[in-house]
Amino acid sequence: FFQKNAEKPLKGRKMLVTAGPTHEPIDPVRYIANRSSGKQGYAIAAALADLGADVVLVSGPTRLETPRGVTLKSIESAKDMLAACEAALPVDGAIFAAAVADWRVETESDQKIKKRDGQLPHLCLAENPDILATVSTLGKNRPTLVVGFAAETQAIIENGKAKLAKKGCDWILANDVGIGTGTFGGDENQIILLTDKLVEEWPKQSKEAVARTVAARIATYFQGDDV
Ligand code: CTP
Ligand code: CA
Repeated sequence: FFQKNAEKPLKGRKMLVTAGPTHEPIDPVRYIANRSSGKQGYAIAAALADLGADVVLVSGPTRLETPRGVTLKSIESAKDMLAACEAALPVDGAIFAAAVADWRVETESDQKIKKRDGQLPHLCLAENPDILATVSTLGKNRPTLVVGFAAETQAIIENGKAKLAKKGCDWILANDVGIGTGTFGGDENQIILLTDKLVEEWPKQSKEAVARTVAARIATYFQGDDV
């Protein structure tokens, strides 16, 4: 029984996790999306719940089952993901693992866009809100710990550090998503943890193992032994 509490170091803590791709509608039958499977975010949500946290998982469309003990909020677009995240606040910690589409079509067509002999449709793009940056720069509603990912295909540490500074989050989990790494949509991930104090390379491991490491680091952080 005493041990039980030690095994649930995040008991009473509320955590927000985003996961999966977003779908940005073009018309009633088409959308813009990406190759994200949602596996890493779902694994993090599960690992946090295993440590006793109260977890809200805001997810784009995936083929995954909701982990036990996790509250799922399903959304499709980036705008809806932002609204669902804001509705989940206040939280103690937020982990942004979603592969949010950077752009949406400015005006969604309410009718299916038809082919018209050789005349191509011109899709006008607009930039989506940056959910991580928005939550990182909130005033009193800012979570104590904000963790982002950095999906990079080159200069991982340099680009990751730039994202840490630009977005105003506390930690960045940088990963190489280039061709051949198998990270995007795959089962393994290699992370470099970046904070204002450290650059720490983790071994390549399963997304579940990465998730357990992330959750344990978050538990350590909330126990007061900062990383
Ligand atoms: N992110 C977000 N909202 C967006 C875009 C990104 O919350 N509209 C979050 C992701 O969930 C991730 C982090 O920001 O935690 C970095 O995402 P990434 O795609 O690597 O960076 P971007 O800032 O979008 O820059 P770029 O894609 O140009 O590298
Ligand atoms: Ca992006």
